[in-house]
Amino acid sequence: MWGLLVLIGAASVSAHPQDLAFDGQKVFRVIPQNDEQVELINFLASNMQVDFWQPDSATLVRPKMEVDFRVEAGKSFEVEDLLKESGVEYRVLIDNLQAALDAQFDSKTRTTKHSYDKYNSWETIAAWTADIAAQNPDLVSRSVIGKTYEGRSIYLLKLGKSGPNKKAIFLDCGFHAREWISPAFCQWFVKEAVESYGKDTATTKLLNRLDFYVLPVVNIDGYVYTWTNDRMWRKTRSKNAESRCIGTDPNRNLNVAWCSIGASKNPCDPTYCGPAPESEKEIKALTDFIRKNVSTIKAYLTIHSYSQLLLFPYSYTYKSAADYDELNSIAGAASKELASLYKTKYKYGPGAEILYPAAGGSEDWAYDQGIKYSFTFELRDTGRYGFLLPESQIKPTCEETLLAVKYIANYVLEHL
Ligand code: ARG
Ligand code: ZN
Repeated sequence: MWGLLVLIGAASVSAHPQDLAFDGQKVFRVIPQNDEQVELINFLASNMQVDFWQPDSATLVRPKMEVDFRVEAGKSFEVEDLLKESGVEYRVLIDNLQAALDAQFDSKTRTTKHSYDKYNSWETIAAWTADIAAQNPDLVSRSVIGKTYEGRSIYLLKLGKSGPNKKAIFLDCGFHAREWISPAFCQWFVKEAVESYGKDTATTKLLNRLDFYVLPVVNIDGYVYTWTNDRMWRKTRSKNAESRCIGTDPNRNLNVAWCSIGASKNPCDPTYCGPAPESEKEIKALTDFIRKNVSTIKAYLTIHSYSQLLLFPYSYTYKSAADYDELNSIAGAASKELASLYKTKYKYGPGAEILYPAAGGSEDWAYDQGIKYSFTFELRDTGRYGFLLPESQIKPTCEETLLAVKYIANYVLEHL
């Protein structure tokens, strides 16, 4: 009887399968000081159903690193007790994930209508790609560069005034499904381009002289899954042979020192590199397009979250890139531009040093294809909300990021 009442009660407030799924879950931040404490984290990872937020997998944890992970409601007290007993330095970043989840939709009105300062579903984004192209025919065109594993069209927008022999900048968003601020940025970027063209001289010049390829969501199937089933999903949604676990980490799937470091061969891991390089249809579509246009593409920018980092090659090795000095000074200047608006602080440097070594990532791949200006952004925040960045932060996050992207674009234009 009671059980039935509870069920009815839950059903009446819950419109989505995941509406209350995160109640009682916690996100911890631990800073292991030595190998022994790293061991403890690995123990938790293999015994307590822990979801790593930062770094992306337990195997990437090293001493002195900030480690954020999510723990299931039923295990959160046990995990906290273990952390206390072990004497490891920790704090509770998010006390009740459900509250943070509700806070991400903090702009009160919910509609399915497209909005630049809200998170849009894939359906809404897909319709928007058609509309924005139709409304700006001399500035925006849309193409399909392939299909996802589940059969969705992968849309690519090309921005720029048409002209002979134009060079281009490639920008993608939504590699990782749960990093919702990323697709929001790609949409914002397109909006700013079409609204500022002919009004703002710097933007007009950029679009007159360069094309921008914008891929609003790479991992569309994963993004859809975060809306319908599991907000914390990261990987693609492809099935794996001889495993019940689903998905490949798209940013470990490129053919650059593939699966040699910072990636897993286990399909159940969040950093699974896939059965082969470019096994994922989404990645194959992206790399095919870039290979085909490699002589015109002068910069590659890929947007992730969270951590507030601006990374450049390499991640697959500690060796510094041939263009280290130039990339480092661009990253420094771009970070400074970004901070000029709201004082948001970014760290910058090669991925392996600033974050962790990890092979098969897209900026390393693009760089080794000869695209010198290759950067990964990790947008806001630094863990207060993590992947659940509230909608009220979309506008400021996109505005400040745009300053950095424009800085890089101008630099590229001046160094063609
Ligand atoms: N968090 C991102 C990822 O793990 C960072 C990417 C850095 N670059 C890289 N090539 N691993 O995919
Ligand atoms: Zn990511």
